[in-house]
Amino acid sequence: MSLLPSPIASLFEKQFLRQLVSTPRGRATLLMQVARSEGTDGETGVFEHILASVDDDEVKKLVRVHQSDEHRHEQLFLARAKAQGEAPLMTPPATDLMAHLDRQIAFQRRPVRDRHGVFEAYLLLQVLEERALRQFGRMMDAFASVGDDETVAVFAAVAADEERHLKYCLAITTRYAPSEAARREGLEMMRRLERAAFEETQRANFHVFVDARLVDGPVWRFLLSKIEQRFGVPDLSLAAS
Ligand SMILES: [Fe+2]
Ligand SMILES: [Fe+2]
Repeated sequence: MSLLPSPIASLFEKQFLRQLVSTPRGRATLLMQVARSEGTDGETGVFEHILASVDDDEVKKLVRVHQSDEHRHEQLFLARAKAQGEAPLMTPPATDLMAHLDRQIAFQRRPVRDRHGVFEAYLLLQVLEERALRQFGRMMDAFASVGDDETVAVFAAVAADEERHLKYCLAITTRYAPSEAARREGLEMMRRLERAAFEETQRANFHVFVDARLVDGPVWRFLLSKIEQRFGVPDLSLAAS
């Protein structure tokens, strides 16, 4: 959140995450969010569009492996959420990165029809994979701080798959891009869109977790009020799109 200089912001983010995972309900809520981002609300939903437009068998095979990996990831995180033994808080659409991104690029409502569509879909997947890898590192640190080693192990195994998926993304976008310059340009544009969507997602999450007292205390409430003075209260339903 750009209200604070970045070293302080990342320290706050670390503390915030540690407090969130300090209760079983906080852990279950976070793990449900991660499961959703792996599942049909996130990455998995993209593949059906892609498979319809991929025209060579080798790439089709990669896409199918990728799709089944993401489905498996969703199940792994759902199992870890359940293992926490408490019902998660069901968080609103504004806490979902894909929902914000989709508002910008209308991906879910616009089927992949041609080679260019495959190229764009895999650029989108690439930036989602990049984000997942950065976030997984932070989450592993948080779950390790409360001794939930089984969840840490799941994050580590899934992160290894995401590294492999990044290679698929590079191979497929390279093959389907009109040119190398177009691939680089497209990737930079997608990264910019994702960064803005991620910041909005973070603000919504901050609001929801403090409001539900999953992260509690005067410091967090003060920070939330300052952030909302500057950026406004987030539209949690994303209804205004
Ligand atoms: Fe995944
Ligand atoms: Fe992935």
